Amino acid sequence: MKFFIDTANLAQIREANEMGVLDGVTTNPSLMAKENIRGEEACRRHYVEICNIVDGDVSAEVIATDFEGMVREGEELAALHPRIVVKLPCTAEGIRAVKYFSQKGIRTNCTLVFSPGQALLAAKAGATYVSPFVGRLDDICADGVELVRRIVEIYRYYGYATQVLAASIRHTQHIVACLDAGADVATCPLSAIKGLLRHPLTDSGLAAFLADHAKVNA
Ligand code: G3P
Repeated sequence: MKFFIDTANLAQIREANEMGVLDGVTTNPSLMAKENIRGEEACRRHYVEICNIVDGDVSAEVIATDFEGMVREGEELAALHPRIVVKLPCTAEGIRAVKYFSQKGIRTNCTLVFSPGQALLAAKAGATYVSPFVGRLDDICADGVELVRRIVEIYRYYGYATQVLAASIRHTQHIVACLDAGADVATCPLSAIKGLLRHPLTDSGLAAFLADHAKVNA
């Protein structure tokens, strides 16, 4: 399973990248706003900065909601760097834009996916990635991980090449559950990635090794 970090924060992207396990980055307009990045030019520069840190796919989301606007914006984003993936919402216009970009060989991430039917349309339109939102389904007492599992099963059964990118991951257990569900990618906050390392037996085992070493090397 590939690991993406879900943030526009450069320090966090660098930290995750330095761990040596980062395969890419996803952003969205809320994450860009959280970093206080204002205006089109600043956004474009920020995407390029992210691409210069990570040797992997970087999802950059369009703001337009109409087909022509999505095409214009997506083409500009794709031209910024070869690793940019154009992120488009799973709406009728968005699906049309996914199809347009897939025919032009521009990679896409179809986002805000909450049902197998939406995932089917994204795959049929030729999306590179589909992003089911795990945490937001859990928020309304639905089962986000179960949606990931169903999409994986449907894509495998029908042979769709679209990769399932589990998004809206909130914590470490979500990552492990999406791994079990067969997700191709999980995009996670840094805290959830670091949480994978935490185990009391690792900490106590290391402390005992170091103490034993110190006893004979005093
Ligand atoms: O990858 C999508 C993600 O950024 C949404 O996460 O926590 O706002 O549901 P969240």
